[in-house]
Amino acid sequence: MFSPVVNRIIYLMKRLLKPFVPEALRSIRGNTNSLLDIEVPEFVVNSSYPSFRSATTLRQKLIHLEQQNRFLIYENMRMNQLFRELIYLNDLKRGYTGSQTKESFDYQWRELPEGEWMPSNQEFLQKADEHLLEFTQIPREWFAGKKILDAGCGSGRWTYALSKLGAHVTSFDQSAGALEEVRRIVDKDANVNIQQGDLLNLHFDDHSFDMVWSFGVAHHTENSLRVLRHLTRCVKPGGYIFVMLYAFPEGLDGFSEQSNYEEWRQRLLPKTNVEKMEIIKKHFPPSQVHGYFDALSPTINDLFTYEWMEAFFRDEGFESFYRVPTQFNHLVTAVKRA
Ligand SMILES: C[S@@+](CC[C@H](N)C(=O)[O-])C[C@H]1O[C@@H](n2cnc3c(N)ncnc32)[C@H](O)[C@@H]1O
Repeated sequence: MFSPVVNRIIYLMKRLLKPFVPEALRSIRGNTNSLLDIEVPEFVVNSSYPSFRSATTLRQKLIHLEQQNRFLIYENMRMNQLFRELIYLNDLKRGYTGSQTKESFDYQWRELPEGEWMPSNQEFLQKADEHLLEFTQIPREWFAGKKILDAGCGSGRWTYALSKLGAHVTSFDQSAGALEEVRRIVDKDANVNIQQGDLLNLHFDDHSFDMVWSFGVAHHTENSLRVLRHLTRCVKPGGYIFVMLYAFPEGLDGFSEQSNYEEWRQRLLPKTNVEKMEIIKKHFPPSQVHGYFDALSPTINDLFTYEWMEAFFRDEGFESFYRVPTQFNHLVTAVKRA
């Protein structure tokens, strides 16, 4: 690349400097391994928190912060789980956030039914049954003639898939807008029974379904534990439950994604549905507008750890768990003990 003369000069300089390079590096590093080990100035050390104060290098301080952060995250998980129990035990209502969440879905199904993973996309719809089999790992043959509740069915993408697999589906949602879409997709399919109602007061008898399917629903309800208990009681012994619930974040990507969503939610909070839709349309590609409205507009977004879910379902009499390995949502199938 360089002329022979320049190459020669570089070679000579390298030879000349060679003995000094390790020494120079050692002197930069000193007794330390990196910049993280440089002592921090007094004003940073002088924190009011004693154990933090005793950490004198940046490395020690970062370790302290990480430990404190980990503790706060676990404490936050415990609070979140405790609130869920308290809301359930005292049958509390959330007021504005509850009605806002319901209205937001009704608006979404009436005004924004189209999306990449929605029934409007024929390519997706034709493969919806395959996705469902992949999520549950239940053999295709099992579904024929089974009685299945699609709890919080939305515009019916999974109702369509379940009915295509040969099941008798009860499609249940509080949103009239959603159910109009379901009617459009399944047309006069005799295998689908559409019902409007509130999952908080689910009227079906105990053990009345071979499978209860609920994709992305309980975390948007005012009393998620109450909804989950209704879902589990409706499953026959030996039958299946499938739920998709929002995950309490894990790892760098999880925290980054959840905090981005939360920032957007807070910014959109005071806006009307129409304003929200306009803002989302401005910032995201058309194929993703439905998905972002769905994720950002509802105010209630309960987050679950997988461990909590497994403990809860075990306590409700379920076993043989299958979990789809995704980072941001928990997709879990389990069998009710016979
Ligand atoms: C994120 S959407 C998911 C829809 C559908 N499961 C899907 O995967 O396309 C959540 C759905 O739950 C419904 N929902 C929320 N709270 C409900 C409640 N208390 N009773 C009945 N449906 C409810 C909403 O109307 C909405 O259609």
